[in-house]
Amino acid sequence: MCGIVAYIGHKEAYPIIIKGLKRLEYRGYDSAGIAISNNGALSVYKKQGKVSNLEALIAQESVQGTAGIGHTRWATHGEPNDINAHPHYSSDGKIALIHNGIIENYDAIKKELINKGYSFRSETDTEVLVHLVDDISKVEGVWYGEALRIALNHVVGAYAIVAISPDFPDRLVAARKSSPLVVGIGENGEYFCASDASPIVEYTKNVVYMEDEEIAVIDRKEGLKLYNIGDQPKTPYIQKLELELEALEKGGYEHFMLKEIHEQPRSIHDCFRGRLNAEKGWISLGGIRDYEQKMIQANRLIIVACGTSWHAGLVGEYLLEDLARINVEVEYASEFRYRNPIIHENDVVIAISQSGETADTLAALELAKSKGATILGICNVVGSSISRITDAGYYTHAGPEIGVASTKAFTAQVTILTLMALQLAHKKGTISQSRFHELLSELEAIPEKVKQILAKNDHVESISKAYKDASNALYLGRGSSFPVALEGALKLKEISYIHAEGYPAAEMKHGPIALIDENMPVFVIATQGNSYEKVVSNIQEVKARKGKIIAIVTEGDTHVKAMADHVIEIPAADEVLVPLLATVPLQLLSYFIAVMRGCNVDQPRNLAKSVTVE
Ligand code: M6R
Repeated sequence: MCGIVAYIGHKEAYPIIIKGLKRLEYRGYDSAGIAISNNGALSVYKKQGKVSNLEALIAQESVQGTAGIGHTRWATHGEPNDINAHPHYSSDGKIALIHNGIIENYDAIKKELINKGYSFRSETDTEVLVHLVDDISKVEGVWYGEALRIALNHVVGAYAIVAISPDFPDRLVAARKSSPLVVGIGENGEYFCASDASPIVEYTKNVVYMEDEEIAVIDRKEGLKLYNIGDQPKTPYIQKLELELEALEKGGYEHFMLKEIHEQPRSIHDCFRGRLNAEKGWISLGGIRDYEQKMIQANRLIIVACGTSWHAGLVGEYLLEDLARINVEVEYASEFRYRNPIIHENDVVIAISQSGETADTLAALELAKSKGATILGICNVVGSSISRITDAGYYTHAGPEIGVASTKAFTAQVTILTLMALQLAHKKGTISQSRFHELLSELEAIPEKVKQILAKNDHVESISKAYKDASNALYLGRGSSFPVALEGALKLKEISYIHAEGYPAAEMKHGPIALIDENMPVFVIATQGNSYEKVVSNIQEVKARKGKIIAIVTEGDTHVKAMADHVIEIPAADEVLVPLLATVPLQLLSYFIAVMRGCNVDQPRNLAKSVTVE
């Protein structure tokens, strides 16, 4: 939610910041803005809508200066318009700042400031902060960095902030709590700040991931200094980025989403590379080795997540219960954190998050930790907040996911959960040696099978044409294909704005069947397995009401083919691994339908990739 980027060095700041904003646009695209410091003054430009609108606004201007800040917004307080766009600045134009997060007590602070004579241009919580910093600076007679530190001691909420003042032309000040912030260290006094490393990687691989309640004073002459908000100095921990620039480009695809769907053979393989050897019959999950016994003996494994990651958690529940016979509960992080859940010290709480920054998931973990539970994480983004607060965890190694709709992150999460379930089952002795070996070989073969599904790209595209004008859609599946149905429905609704619902196939009779008529597309996962016959009956029930059936079937299936309006065949696989395959055609269907409807698939309306507000 909101992307922030800043630069100070010896080059022109504007092109670096605008490029950075484009990389961060997936975090929000309600408005964009920049402030550049030059010759004792700030030039501020802000525009509703995408970064390209801001660029068009600035096109005729000559923006110069070697220090600046930029922001791309996902609106929380105040509608998306030019005035509410960041940066926000003090009345005298001497302090400007960008902010990602929410200042929860902004209303009380605002009233105090209004009583002191401050007036407000915008409806945002962020503008409150800039006037507060200005006020403290004037009343206490301190420079704006110190004023920001004092102000943050009065603030309740979440923030990643970068502030700039033309009176201190060599400096930027950055601070974070609960929203991510990375500082990049270039050469010869060149520094970068950003919500993630994507705007930085082109210039340097040396970064410092800021911790909660840290303030960074970034001075191109004096270097980077870190403090906590109590003003105690801290030593910056410099890490090397592993991210490569190519991973952030579209690589010839029309959209990031399509690229990321097509990357799945590689991303699934990268996920188990070095962790699985089918020939020798072992799984090695270094990240959680020390916690395996704890997981086996745990009262319960509680998976907390949101959105697509929650769907991956549901697949994990089937796998862990079926293979390892461990009691698993899957919780929406947002519900879990607020309903006074019963958490025991011998519970293991596992957070699943692509970004590793989702506010609700992070808060759910913090709650579990405070109750003494062991907390583990499954994250994609290296160095993210969740990966840093957990006792141990796994990285999914899917590579950067830029499309707002999660695709390769989902299959990577499911791959990790499969490895986890197999490893625990093996250790616990709940599956036979031969089944363990068989499943390892099957898992190793999944990337090749995903490749075969992706080769049906054009067939899926042609099916999509028939459903691009639908107003509603149903997705049905049983067993571990039920969460796949939920995920299929989420993909369709979030990028094409078609109302879609996922259901366990048998639940259809308990209500949704009333919706079925000749206009209703029903996507059914009807692969070979234990509930195949039952799903076939559900298909017949839909057909009897003239619904349109689009079935995902196992290669060679003729039975469902005879009933369905369209089928997409996927290679045969053990039932346990079907979610990794059945998901892929559903992703492609959503993608093509959204493209045919003229939707912006990479940046669907109202959404942001990383939900760092609750
Ligand atoms: O980064 P996370 O996995 O924690 O994000 C959770 C959800 O916001 C996310 O999965 C969302 O539902 C997807 N972008 C949907 O495709």
